[in-house]
Amino acid sequence: MGKCKIGIIGFGTVGTGIYRILKSRNDVHPILKDIEIVGIAVKNINKNRNIELENNLLIDDPNKLINDSNIDVIVEVMGGTDMAKDIILKSLKARKSVVTANKAVIARYGSEIYATAAKYGVYVLTEAAVCGGIPIIEPLKRSLKSNQINKIVGIINGTTNFILSKMTNEKADYEETLKLAQKLGFAEFDPTADVEGHDAADKISILSELAFGGRINRDSISTEGINQINIKDIEYANKLGFEIKLLAFSERNTINNKNSLSLNIWVGPSLIPKYHPLAKVDGVNNAILIESYPLGEIMLYGPGAGSGPTAASVVSDILNLQASLSKNLPTKDPLLSFNFWRDCHIIDFNQISKKNYLRIICLDSPGVIGKIGDLFGKNDVSIESIVQLDASENKAEIVVITHEVSNGNFEKSKEGIRALPEVELIASQLSCI
Ligand code: HSE
Repeated sequence: MGKCKIGIIGFGTVGTGIYRILKSRNDVHPILKDIEIVGIAVKNINKNRNIELENNLLIDDPNKLINDSNIDVIVEVMGGTDMAKDIILKSLKARKSVVTANKAVIARYGSEIYATAAKYGVYVLTEAAVCGGIPIIEPLKRSLKSNQINKIVGIINGTTNFILSKMTNEKADYEETLKLAQKLGFAEFDPTADVEGHDAADKISILSELAFGGRINRDSISTEGINQINIKDIEYANKLGFEIKLLAFSERNTINNKNSLSLNIWVGPSLIPKYHPLAKVDGVNNAILIESYPLGEIMLYGPGAGSGPTAASVVSDILNLQASLSKNLPTKDPLLSFNFWRDCHIIDFNQISKKNYLRIICLDSPGVIGKIGDLFGKNDVSIESIVQLDASENKAEIVVITHEVSNGNFEKSKEGIRALPEVELIASQLSCI
C-alpha cells in the first residue's frame, strides 16, 4: 500500500492532537505509518507552540497544500465558518478528499459540500465533527444502514455536560467552570456556541441528515442552551428524581406528509429520570442513544471533546481514505461518501409534543395550585406532578411536570398562568424525557 500524503490546515487543539498520534510510538496498526504529513498551514508560523515539530512543516499559505499535486487528503481543522468552507470547497475542486472536524460548516453547508465531493469524485469525511472521539458518523453511514432509524437522543456537547455535572455534583460556579472547560480545550473558540446550544444543534443536524437521509434546515432547529439554568432548578430536579442535561433530540414524527419525512428536532436543557442511562453520563463525556428497527436501542458513550479523542476520529477518517485510495476503485464507496436520498422537514415548534418542567414564583395564597391546574386542564395539558417546593415571605415556588403535550397547548397555558394575579413570574421552563 502506498503512502497517503496529507496537508493539515490549522494547528490548534485538534491539529496538534493529530500530529501527536501520527508521530507517537503507540502500539497501533502499522498502516498508520503510511500516513505522511506534507505540510501544516497556520496563520502565524512564529507562534510559540508547546510541541516539538519536524523542520519545515509549517507554512502560512493553505493554497500551497491545496494545489500540491503530491497531496491526497486535506485535513481541515482550522475552525470558523466562511474561510473553512472556502478551503473545503477549493480542496474538493482540486480533487483532494477532505477530512474535517468542522460541525458548523458541515451543518450549514453540508449539501453544497457533499454535492461538490460527488461531482469531483472525492470524499468528505466528518467523524470528528460530532461527539469528539465517539464513532457515530461511520456507524450511521455504514454499520446501522440495515436498520430504520426512529430516534436519536443524546448528550452531544462536552462543555455543557462538564459544567452541569460540576454544578450538580460539586455546587460549582457556572462562570468558573466554563473557564476551566476552555482551559482544558473542550469549549469552542467562542464558547457561546457551546452554552447557547448552537454547537449541539449543528451536531444533531448532521446526525439527522445521515440517519434520515434528507437535508435539514439547520436554522429551524429550536435551540436553547444552559446559560439561563438556575442552580435552584438543578436542586429541585434532583429532589424530584431527575438530572438536568443539555439534550439534542431528533425523531421521526407521525405527521403525514407523502413527499417529505416529518422530523421533530430540538436542543434544550432537559430533565432526565435518574434511572435513565443518559442521566449517568457525566463530565466531558457524550452519549448518543439510537432507537432503530429491527435493532432496538443502542447507546454509544465516551469522550465528546478534547485534543486526543477528537484527533483520533480525524486519523480514523484518514485511514478510511487511505484504504479506499489504495484500492484505486473507479467509483466511490456509496456508503462512505454521502448523498441525500429523500426530503425531510422539521415540524413546526407548536406541533412538537414533549414533557415539560415549569417553575413558577407566586404568592403563597390559598387556591393558587388549583388555579394553575385548572388552566392546564382547560388547554388540554395533562399534569404528571405539581408541588410547592419552597415558601418564604409569602412567596411560593411551584414546580409542575407535565405529561407529553403539544408546545402550542403548553404555551397557551403559560399565557394564562402569567396573567393570574397571584403569579409573579415563570422563572424557568425545561424539557423532560
Ligand atoms: N465544544 C465542543 C464540545 C467540542 O464541548 O462538545 C467538540 O465538538
